[in-house]
Amino acid sequence: QIQIFEEIFSFRNWRRKIGSENKLVGFIPTMGCLHEGHLSLIKQANQYCQIIVISIFVNPAQFAPSEDLDKYPRTLSDDLDKLSSLKCVDAVFLPKVEEIYPAGIPLEIKEQQGTFVEVKGKSHQMEGKTRPGFFRGVATVCTKLFNIIQPDNVFFGQKDVQQCVIIRNMIRDLHFPIEMHVGDTVREKDGLAMSSRNKYLTPEMRKVAITLYQSLIETKKAFENNIRDRKNLLDPAFELIERVTKENEAQKLGFSIKLDYLSLTDPDTLEEIDRIKEKGAILSGALYVGSTRLIDNILFNCK
Ligand code: PAJ
Repeated sequence: QIQIFEEIFSFRNWRRKIGSENKLVGFIPTMGCLHEGHLSLIKQANQYCQIIVISIFVNPAQFAPSEDLDKYPRTLSDDLDKLSSLKCVDAVFLPKVEEIYPAGIPLEIKEQQGTFVEVKGKSHQMEGKTRPGFFRGVATVCTKLFNIIQPDNVFFGQKDVQQCVIIRNMIRDLHFPIEMHVGDTVREKDGLAMSSRNKYLTPEMRKVAITLYQSLIETKKAFENNIRDRKNLLDPAFELIERVTKENEAQKLGFSIKLDYLSLTDPDTLEEIDRIKEKGAILSGALYVGSTRLIDNILFNCK
């Protein structure tokens, strides 16, 4: 039977008892609308930990005023069914915005009040360039959740690679007594990375949504042919996206495809690189399909 907590106070009472039982607590923070990507992290947690806690919280601090906070899919009863069927989840934490943000609800980034956590140097590029304030919201809510849940292990998905780097740095810099694990990106049959936002796609959009992953694969092919310089790695990806964009326009389906960015970065510093060296690289990108923004990435390992 899954325990459901909506208040910090009641969660803490339960957590205190677990603490005295000497069991490892694994925690997976989510924004709900759960899919196989989330569930794979829970299954991974189940291999390490005796107690599994999930949070479902659509965090207003990581949405800009122009973004999809109100529209973000909320499917609580479905989510709870999926969690029950896994038979390994002990508790679900469903906090209220007011309790998580006692100093006020941070809807307007500029007008935020209260205490925030920022991982400098890693938050302004890639996703952070298009979404300023996003990683401040993520780091802040993860700090709050880590303080409430007090997990021994946390599980994040490779799909949000920059988020993984930022949380890893935050755990180190703020001395959280937490071990971090990263789970592989779970994909649909055709390769599209699973995402709660895929729900926004119409069947026509769904067909072209795969373009981002295909473009990453174009670069991967170049990498496997021992190409290491930025231009020759990325050109095939840009070409594929341009071709599909034009084809889509010609079909007059009423929506457009637009590349937001493709990044080839150092895996630790997240700075753009001109050449892949021994450390390897992160290739990541974001693509608009209509007004839906999809992200994906792959890693290049040179070892
Ligand atoms: P959300 O998008 O719900 O994702 C929750 C976790 O599931 C994240 O660690 C994310 O990387 C992982 N995930 C999502 N899609 C995945 C996929 N296809 N394969 C593997 N893992 C996947 O990320 C967030 O929520 C929020 O930013 C959060 C960390 C909860 C803070 O609000």
